[in-house]
Amino acid sequence: MSGAGGGLELRAEVPALDEALALYDAVGWGAYTREPETLERALRGSGRVVTARRDGQLLGLARVVGDGAVIAYLQDVLVHPGAQGQGIGRRLVEEVFAPYEAVRQQVLLTDAEPGQRAFYEALGFVEAHDHDPGLRAFVRLH
Ligand SMILES: CC(C)(COP(=O)(O)OP(=O)(O)OC[C@H]1O[C@@H](n2cnc3c(N)ncnc32)[C@H](O)[C@@H]1OP(=O)(O)O)[C@@H](O)C(=O)NCCC(=O)NCCS
Repeated sequence: MSGAGGGLELRAEVPALDEALALYDAVGWGAYTREPETLERALRGSGRVVTARRDGQLLGLARVVGDGAVIAYLQDVLVHPGAQGQGIGRRLVEEVFAPYEAVRQQVLLTDAEPGQRAFYEALGFVEAHDHDPGLRAFVRLH
């Protein structure tokens, strides 16, 4: 596995809608790409969006929503399939949470895929039902 170094640039910015759409499309997130205006509002309404670029090309993105005080919610982290496994996802999560280090509640909801569990556990997250003391997570999806 090669390192994420190599000319990678992380930056807090909202990327242009067309390049964001291409990235979300590359990981197959059709719920976003079917509604470009919703994606644009979601990006602009986020507390913090961090991109990863190499030679200007958008390779990854992470965004946090929250109140900046007691809750920081990681809504998306995605890395282009051609750039996965190089440490970019880890760098994105670290960078997007950097201003929220003192925020006690850092949470996210994601698909029940083994790879995603491994990714988040590598970053220090614990599944809610495995947490001690016990926690419950509830969701209402429309
Ligand atoms: C999940 C995702 C963001 C990971 O990004 P990435 O750049 O490939 O991850 P990294 O290379 O930074 O890996 C970070 C750590 O997670 C682990 N990890 C990542 N993917 C893994 C997998 N599929 N299985 C096991 N471990 C995994 C790595 O081993 C690494 O551990 P280490 O730092 O202790 O060595 C990326 O695969 C992706 O964009 N997937 C599609 C979109 C998605 O599902 N996003 C998450 C849901 S919001």
